[in-house]
Amino acid sequence: MTSANRDLVERSLAAVWHPCTQMKSHERFPLVPIARGVGPWLEDFEGRRYLDGVSSWWVNLFGHAHPALNAALSDQAGRLAHVMLAGFTQQPVVELSERLAALAPGRLGHAFYASDGASAIEIALKMAFHHAANRGEPKRTRFVALAGGYHGETAGALGVTDVPLFRAAYGPLVHASLVAPFPGDDPDATALGALLARHAGEVAALVVEPLVQGASGMRMYPAAWLTRARELCTEHGVLLIADEIMTGFGRTGTFFACEQAGIAPDLLCLSKGITGGFLPLSCVLCTDHVYGAFYDDDVTRGFLHSHSYTGNALACRVACAVLDLFRDEDVLAGNRARAARFSQAALPLARHPAVRNFRHLGMIWAFEVATATPDFARHAFTRALDRGVLVRPIGHTVYFMPPYVIDDAQFSLLVDAGLDIAQVLGTGA
Ligand SMILES: Cc1ncc(COP(=O)(O)O)c(C=O)c1O
Repeated sequence: MTSANRDLVERSLAAVWHPCTQMKSHERFPLVPIARGVGPWLEDFEGRRYLDGVSSWWVNLFGHAHPALNAALSDQAGRLAHVMLAGFTQQPVVELSERLAALAPGRLGHAFYASDGASAIEIALKMAFHHAANRGEPKRTRFVALAGGYHGETAGALGVTDVPLFRAAYGPLVHASLVAPFPGDDPDATALGALLARHAGEVAALVVEPLVQGASGMRMYPAAWLTRARELCTEHGVLLIADEIMTGFGRTGTFFACEQAGIAPDLLCLSKGITGGFLPLSCVLCTDHVYGAFYDDDVTRGFLHSHSYTGNALACRVACAVLDLFRDEDVLAGNRARAARFSQAALPLARHPAVRNFRHLGMIWAFEVATATPDFARHAFTRALDRGVLVRPIGHTVYFMPPYVIDDAQFSLLVDAGLDIAQVLGTGA
């Protein structure tokens, strides 16, 4: 490592507490210094490049340093970076809210903003509960979540997150949800229906990741389950919260995953790709019905939640520029063609003897590796990194979730890294 790389790593290990990390593990596994990003590439101070196969934790849609997003950001910075949104408004937040409402399924015409995915989930849970209370049903204090669901790691969001690794340590702090089976194990939603019936009048909302559970290993399930879940929610007077924080903005092939089930949720949570990976921003869209339950002369019936950076003008302006790219470059059609070619290119991987359950949806590819390698995910990450590819397996699941600007040759680098991982770390057992 050059001194610039080494210096940054040493200072970072001394001063920065990195997320989702047992810091001691960096005694064995490298911390990677990054100096700049261009397109799908990340680059260190020596010019060593890594292909960003996970879109920097699923946020980066159009590559790093995209000129149109850079331009929107610097233009907005010269006008207005931020003004508090309580009692004030500004152009980017209004434009973004109108455009998201127009794109969303159903009539989700009211947008509430925060800065990250978990905060959007907190907002949706609080809104769902408060909505029921304002409508005279204060006993609806419970939420239903899905086995294997992930909705973020603040205390409220952990209550609807079913990933023991993230949740177990905080059990006593968590308002545990009711857990319905993973849709793949309950294809007709019969168990979900029975759960809602058993807890009639107690449940404020069902929260789901539509079509793909990301953090528990890119677990995909059929759209028909979601269609049925929508019907069941309506039958039982339960709000449906669609967490499209990962699936939104074209990741599953449609702009929102809910479209594939032909449904509209009552609350739609968005973040990650909303600014193309430029700035932290999240949003909860809700219906007139939900909004109307708060609209009153009584202040305490209002939704008094806030964050200092709610509706940040820089972030909203970049999010509008992301929507411009979708509109002007017909990104969804481009991705359909791209995904068809990439799936062909991935066939050798799908057929590798150590690869199990190869699957694909939109711009996500995932598979399990049959392996006996201890700490497989870290070793696979390090191997791929040595080949100049950033993939970050979850358990034994390897996945590719590249920025939408990746080309065929670059996708082949991901496939080659996957083959190397399967060949060297997989047993084929
Ligand atoms: C589906 C889903 N919901 C919520 C979150 C939490 O978002 P954040 O990490 O921005 O808090 C994530 C993050 O991975 C996610 O994938």
